[in-house]
Amino acid sequence: MNFSLLALLCFQPMRILGIETSCDETSAAVAEDGMTVRSCVIASSRKSFENRGGVIPEEAARKQIPLILPVIDEAMTKASCVPADLDAIAVAYAPGLLGSLLVGTTTARVLSSLWHVPLIGVVHTRAHFDSLWLDTRNDPPAFPCVTLSVSGGHTEVWLRTSHTEGTLLGRTRDDAAGEAFDKGALLFGLPYPGGPALAALAEGGDERAYAFPLPLREEATCDFSFSGLKTALKYRLRDVGEEVHEENVRRNLAASYQHAICLHLTRSVLRALERHPDVREVHLAGGVSANLRLRAMLKAEAEDGIKVRWPVALTYCTDNAAMIAAAAFFAAKERGESAFAPFLTKATAEG
Ligand code: KG4
Ligand code: ZN
Repeated sequence: MNFSLLALLCFQPMRILGIETSCDETSAAVAEDGMTVRSCVIASSRKSFENRGGVIPEEAARKQIPLILPVIDEAMTKASCVPADLDAIAVAYAPGLLGSLLVGTTTARVLSSLWHVPLIGVVHTRAHFDSLWLDTRNDPPAFPCVTLSVSGGHTEVWLRTSHTEGTLLGRTRDDAAGEAFDKGALLFGLPYPGGPALAALAEGGDERAYAFPLPLREEATCDFSFSGLKTALKYRLRDVGEEVHEENVRRNLAASYQHAICLHLTRSVLRALERHPDVREVHLAGGVSANLRLRAMLKAEAEDGIKVRWPVALTYCTDNAAMIAAAAFFAAKERGESAFAPFLTKATAEG
């Protein structure tokens, strides 16, 4: 029997080292039972891309190479962990920047082989779903739930009945919600990543000052479309002319644009809830779940009795390795040895 499954059966906490390198973060974390985070270390090369319009893939991967081992070392030390304490190593293997993913997966494979610890491959976007369980041992989320997953590359709404089962109800037809923030921020001349910068600019602005079209308004769909909003912002910025340099005009425009994105996301969640009246929880995951306006709007619009949740820490909203360890734990718990199978190396299979 796989010794990690043995740990589950013996009710020992299952300790997993997570590794996440899918974009410009290099992260390692040790988590127990998908909920208790013993350490979570994140090194980011974001600063160097701030004024260059976005991440340059090859450069991001090159910057991760010298970081990955010290980051893992720090995560293990902070968790007071030695390799023999680990039940598995989990690594994000897709989607993401190819070179960056290779830094993480290659390192994970080598460590798995050297330390004789099984390896679990995790899909990054699914791991965001499990980020809501981190540090929630006293009040864990529940199924069924409607999950709105909003990141820089993906926007999806799911009906989920377990960690590994669910139905995709809607997805974006063009840009992701994070991209809508990032591209909008670029139009304002704000630094990458645009989401937090645009949200900061929108603070105190009048979100009713400028009208933006609600995408897919006429369709009974849970899908999303953001490219029209971005174009509308471009024309609004052009139409205000020289006033674009006035602080209150910029604030009002940013607030109105943010409001339009959040309203579009919220409408889709409400539609999903209407279709599935048995659902009592809404989960907000991915980088854009850090957005305070989106959180407030979802809470205000969801009917009484529906609990709206997001990750308990800001670090768990954006890319981090603790969610990779959590996703691996729940996959192993629900799927047993098949969670390990696609990623087993010969050495670990024999080990
Ligand atoms: O999940 P994530 O860290 O990386 C991906 O998997 O893509 O998400 C990054 C995205 C970026 O587009 C970033 O601008 C956005 O999340 N983001 C935000 C906020 N914080 C991060 N968007 C809006 N408001 C925020 N506070
Ligand atoms: Zn992500």
